[in-house]
Amino acid sequence: MSRKDEKSYYCNECGARYPKWLGRCEDCGQWNSIIEDIKVGGVTATGATSVEFKTISYGPARVERKFSGIDEFDRVLGGGMVPGSVVLIGGEPGIGKSTLLLQVLSALSQDYECIYVSGEESSEQIFLRAARLGANNSNIRLACETNIDIILKSLGTHSVDFLVVDSVQTLQTSSVESIPGTVTQVRASTYELINFAKTTGATVFLVGHITKDGAIAGPKTLEHMVDTVLYFEGERGKSYRILRSVKNRYGPCDELGIFEMQQQGLVGVSNPSVLFLTQRDYDVAGTMVFPGIEGTRPLLIEVQALVSRSYFTSPRRTVVGWDINRLFTILAVIESKCRISFSDKDVYLGIAGGLKISEPAGDLAVAVSLLSAKSGCIVDREICTFGEIGLTGEIRSVSRCAERIKEAEKLGFRKILLPFSSQLPQLPHVQLITVRTLAEVPMVLGLDGTKRTQ
Ligand code: TYD
Ligand code: MG
Repeated sequence: MSRKDEKSYYCNECGARYPKWLGRCEDCGQWNSIIEDIKVGGVTATGATSVEFKTISYGPARVERKFSGIDEFDRVLGGGMVPGSVVLIGGEPGIGKSTLLLQVLSALSQDYECIYVSGEESSEQIFLRAARLGANNSNIRLACETNIDIILKSLGTHSVDFLVVDSVQTLQTSSVESIPGTVTQVRASTYELINFAKTTGATVFLVGHITKDGAIAGPKTLEHMVDTVLYFEGERGKSYRILRSVKNRYGPCDELGIFEMQQQGLVGVSNPSVLFLTQRDYDVAGTMVFPGIEGTRPLLIEVQALVSRSYFTSPRRTVVGWDINRLFTILAVIESKCRISFSDKDVYLGIAGGLKISEPAGDLAVAVSLLSAKSGCIVDREICTFGEIGLTGEIRSVSRCAERIKEAEKLGFRKILLPFSSQLPQLPHVQLITVRTLAEVPMVLGLDGTKRTQ
């Protein structure tokens, strides 16, 4: 058998690939989910030509982006939408993906040809939602269809600028033989939509549902095929939603867009820092505010710590929104440099508002909230802090200090504890307190037992 004819297999649940058939997927543990991969279409080897690199005139200047006018959305995509690109938007059912895309499409339809294809809802349901969003008079064209061949055939006669497909899991194509909803069908359908985008220059948005374990069900395997992957997230019972870019071929990654779900749909939050600070009407120990950078903009984030007596032989360490290994490191540095032990304490650390901090600049805020929780001493409410902690206990400088300081000032902070640096901006209303080592911190902040919570 030649190499070309060799069969390959993959898991219909998680997309893991195997050279031979197995009864149980080694990756996700699912039984009977491995199926044979069927090649989609064929590539002819003839006619492939190469061009001289220097003669290619593509560049930033050639990409003409289009804007929806919904700032939070445009920014997450790297400053508008790129023609011919394919964007996958993943999120749990009910988080607001259909609402968001209907709003975006409604805004875009004022200037562009927009089509919304739904495989999940009837046109009546979509119309009712549109009425609620005030989008029922927009120029969107609507199609309720799941067969990609029919969709593309009908699109052939229209010029399309934007196409939304909600959701990718409902798509099926007759070019492959397997039941709808399987990874094979989803991949084959996406492949055809990507071809459509690249040949017509339309921007395609694909909605993908995320399963309980966080993978975009099946479409996890689409992430490498599409140009941009966005996640739409939110906390249960809270009205705000975060749109996060995790992959973007046309812009920066880790950009955040923040929305609030209201009666009339999603509304962009222009001042998100206010949202992520809890109502701090009274003084408590164990919290600290960190001016972080999320994507391209600063955002004030609250770190909370709880330190309690441990009843376990090995004390518990729990984190939400922070890296557990980073917590171990910070605890070790506090123990060795400040001579404060957590060995008989359980430690819980959380980032308020469901955000995740991956920047090392958050180290100092974590350390301060731990020290405050351990001592029961309150840190002045007007202080916030940022800085990276090194293994020797030194507080290291971080990037974009000026932006962090300005955002803190804007939100009313009057003192900032930060790493020593020669290039700090001078602001009339903010006192900058610089520290070189972690050992100085308890004394500088008065975490020595003078002020206690009730
Ligand atoms: P939806 O966009 O259908 O979610 P998804 O497509 O991700 O499954 O959003 C559904 C939720 O949004 C639903 O719980 C109701 C809420 N919602 C509002 O609060 N206000 C609105 O204006 C709309 C349209 C929906
Ligand atoms: Mg939906």
